[in-house]
Amino acid sequence: MNTKDLIKIEDDYFINTFTRQPVVLDHGEGVRVTDIDGNEYLDMFAGIAVSALGHNHPKLVKAIQDQAAKLIHISSIYYNEPALVYAKKLVDATNFDRIFYANSGAEANEGAIKLAVKYTGKSEVISTVDSFHGRTIMTLAATGHEEYHEPFKSVLPNGFINVPYNDIDAIKEAINENTAAIIVEPIQGEGGVNVPDANYLKEIEAICKENGIVFIVDEVQTGFGRCGTLFAHELFGVKPDIMTMAKGIGGGVPMGGILATEEVASAFVPGDHGTTFGGGPLVCAAANVVFDELTSEGFLDNVNEVGEYFIDELKKLDKDVIEDVRGKGLIVGLQLTKPGAEYVDKLREAGFLINCTAGNVLRFVPPLTITKADIDEFVKALDEIL
Ligand SMILES: Cc1ncc(COP(=O)(O)O)c(C=O)c1O
Repeated sequence: MNTKDLIKIEDDYFINTFTRQPVVLDHGEGVRVTDIDGNEYLDMFAGIAVSALGHNHPKLVKAIQDQAAKLIHISSIYYNEPALVYAKKLVDATNFDRIFYANSGAEANEGAIKLAVKYTGKSEVISTVDSFHGRTIMTLAATGHEEYHEPFKSVLPNGFINVPYNDIDAIKEAINENTAAIIVEPIQGEGGVNVPDANYLKEIEAICKENGIVFIVDEVQTGFGRCGTLFAHELFGVKPDIMTMAKGIGGGVPMGGILATEEVASAFVPGDHGTTFGGGPLVCAAANVVFDELTSEGFLDNVNEVGEYFIDELKKLDKDVIEDVRGKGLIVGLQLTKPGAEYVDKLREAGFLINCTAGNVLRFVPPLTITKADIDEFVKALDEIL
């Protein structure tokens, strides 16, 4: 079937939830993907900051193939070695003590909020304007976009308070004796690659400590090397009580999770939370490979070096349409003075996949394996198109 006929299947059969780019992708290699018509694209999007090791990574593919041939699924009722080995690796590499495996970012955030509520026995959660925490009913309530809430207002849970991002006074005003948790992205992704002031997270941490509030960092987008450290909260020198994760964790397989301190994690007992698929052997086999690569000698140094180079090169572009360039590691935003959708289309036609978020921010979240030469190729095309 050709591209037009395949896309028509979506029009005729799918529930209408996505505005997709009109390409049917077929295969990938490294930082490049190819559609069914043979057109190749430099992938500056990595499936929304997911394909951390790029496409067709030999070790990742082998681990998935080997594990698929052994055992794909067993449920949470039995132990499996990849999940146990991975848990120890990840927990030992962080300031957290315990893990819960989930299947997506939204599900991880659901579990994190439940844990904070159970731990504190309190009922309110503070989140930030322009945040994104997921599309389930509770994570939608936490997500700081009124327009997403509107059609579902009648069923959204109470107790979610939205305050402006990077505004510590707003948090101070919002807390009260019912506050269970503050959930925040260390750098807002969907909200437009918004990097907070250096002391913002530190001040949230202090407020949480003083008031017995659970500090949750949502690292679904920023985690797993995306910002040049294993997790972005490390950049701000904080030790949150809970961290949620997904996206890059498994290099493309659907997986998420929660990390928590011993103290907070102890609130859950069997029956409080669960999952059928979470922590399955297939996804954990993939996550082990991603973790080993991310923590291998020089990997994160390269993310930082290429990321800084990328931001410097973007800053050199002398265009009236550019309002701001910002980011950290390989999450980079180019804010325009006008809507960005037309540039997404023009870049795709020129062989580059990117996306636009918050209306006018071109967001670049390529595989972490991208090189300076790839960046040069992209910035040259962007320069011409802008
Ligand atoms: C910070 C953040 N949290 C949560 C989510 C939701 O993750 P998922 O789409 O895997 O449910 C996203 C997705 O973009 C995200 O960026």
